[in-house]
Amino acid sequence: MVVYNPVKVLHNVRILNIALVIVIIDRLLILVTDVPSIVFVASVFTILLSVFALLEANIHGRASSIFLFVSASEISNGIVQFIAGTNLSSGYVLYMSAILAFILGGFICILLPTTNPSSNNSVGSGLRFDPNSEYVIELDNVYKDYYVGGIVVHALRGVSLKIRRGEFVAIMGPSGSGKSTLLNMIGALDKPTKGKIYIEGVDISQLNDNQLAELRNKKIGFIFQMFNLITRTSVLRNVELPSIVAGKSKKERIERAKKLLEIMGLDSSVFKRRPVYLSGGQQQRVAIARALMNNPVIILADEPTGNLDSKTGEEVMKYLRMLNKKFNTTVIVVTHDRAVAETADKIFHIRDGKIIREEIVGEKAK
Ligand SMILES: Nc1ncnc2c1ncn2[C@@H]1O[C@H](COP(=O)(O)OP(=O)(O)O)[C@@H](O)[C@H]1O
Ligand SMILES: [Mg+2]
Repeated sequence: MVVYNPVKVLHNVRILNIALVIVIIDRLLILVTDVPSIVFVASVFTILLSVFALLEANIHGRASSIFLFVSASEISNGIVQFIAGTNLSSGYVLYMSAILAFILGGFICILLPTTNPSSNNSVGSGLRFDPNSEYVIELDNVYKDYYVGGIVVHALRGVSLKIRRGEFVAIMGPSGSGKSTLLNMIGALDKPTKGKIYIEGVDISQLNDNQLAELRNKKIGFIFQMFNLITRTSVLRNVELPSIVAGKSKKERIERAKKLLEIMGLDSSVFKRRPVYLSGGQQQRVAIARALMNNPVIILADEPTGNLDSKTGEEVMKYLRMLNKKFNTTVIVVTHDRAVAETADKIFHIRDGKIIREEIVGEKAK
């Protein structure tokens, strides 16, 4: 369920940027006029706080009490000046307004409830994920119809399933059975015609485009059969890309990208190379590192071994299993290959857009 909380609306980075820039311009204008020293110091202080809040919002993607403090002090400043009348040349009024503004700002800031700024859940669009929910993914009677030239294709016909946190599952079925469609629904790349999909308790059919984009960027890592790497740029840059959207600092991004590539068994000799000069297995490992970049809760892989020979495919599956264990990431692999599916904990068998059977496999079956 999406809950709109007034404090969370304040945490919308765009609104925040506009507000802070207005504050900074306002204070800069005050600085260039002839004002008492206390006002000068207070204005410099406000500018520094605003810049700090701007950096925090844009680099770390979060807003904190600093923003509330700045805005509250600006508002109270305005109120004091309004009450005191328009005679702003009076030093006394400016003194009083600056001092009162900061006292009032502090009070309002303490009184207003703040959301936990470090939590992924409070950023931006007011999405309330439950990071402790037992099921990371729940589908309730999902239908998907495609309309092609006046003909309806029923790609999914009432799929219900639940996937636990940290589970490693395969979706297996013949070509055209609806596997990719199902994965695209879970990954919020497309909307169901009917039915509900919950990701960490949030009903994603209710989300707007911005919220869906945020969900995909923060919660989900995608891996495709054709690797889908950007061929014009380096391996390192490919891995780094998702976190640019997420607003991490350059240094953080590069460090994490390197670390993930190393976890995926790729050493620094390939970092600067373009993906086309790598083997298929290596390219898929780059794609996995990229999928991990924003520390997703879910990894969705559509035929990740489809373009690889069986030995390399096996290796890619081992890496997926390794990161499933290491980061407790929920992994869903779509395949038509029984050997690939058997490396999972559970197989959902799909035929003609319906789950026909769940099968426990691997260690858990023994
Ligand atoms: N974008 C689309 N437009 C029209 N029909 C589609 C589209 N995507 C998939 N389909 C149809 O939906 C059915 C399921 O396709 P898909 O999910 O790709 O199956 P799978 O991945 O199991 O091979 C197929 O009949 C396919 O032709
Ligand atoms: Mg497919």
